[in-house]
Amino acid sequence: MGTVPKDPPIRLGILLSGRGSNFLAIADSIRAGRLQGVEIAVVLSNVADAAGLAKAHEMGLPTALLVSKGRKRAEHDADVIACLKYHNVDLICLAGYMRLLSPEFIAAFPNRILNIHPSLLPAFPGLDAQTQAFDYGVKVAGCTVHFVDEHLDHGAIVLQRAIPVLESDDAHSLAERILAEEHLAYTDAIALVTSGEYELRERRFVRRDP
Ligand code: GRF
Repeated sequence: MGTVPKDPPIRLGILLSGRGSNFLAIADSIRAGRLQGVEIAVVLSNVADAAGLAKAHEMGLPTALLVSKGRKRAEHDADVIACLKYHNVDLICLAGYMRLLSPEFIAAFPNRILNIHPSLLPAFPGLDAQTQAFDYGVKVAGCTVHFVDEHLDHGAIVLQRAIPVLESDDAHSLAERILAEEHLAYTDAIALVTSGEYELRERRFVRRDP
């Protein structure tokens, strides 16, 4: 989005709950110079033993643990918002963050929250999207990076990557091949969103007029 500040670097807040392979792919893209003009401000987990949080810590990145279990959504989200603001986060990247965001959270960062989902939305929102797609018998699968709104896996699409479903696939191999696409998609999506060259027109994320 054009109004994201570009200089100094755009500060990413990564939210995760588990493995963290998408976070690692983003971090690797920054380290390798494939993703320029951004830095990771904080990696925040709502789950204490999230592998992604441990990795972030090992990498020397700022980390935060705000356990959500047993807490009211609005109260937990208020703490998360405060943490993201404390770290001066410009753009939030949900990377396997297994929580629905409260309306207050979304309002605090309008069009500044991205999510990645392992299907070609609007097909197969929700959990186990890859298995849903495989069981449905689709011939093309993939992943979607989208802005987050109040509805599950619903906001405007930034980009999608598609792959064929092979006759030799099972749900597991399909999920693995989709994950490889996710790792490319998130970097590309962050680059687009932070480029300032694209804008939202209703639900369409399109290049700005020259
Ligand atoms: C990914 O498949 C992502 O699309 C979904 O959750 C999974 C997270 O994987 N939202 P990882 O923690 O990034 O490895």
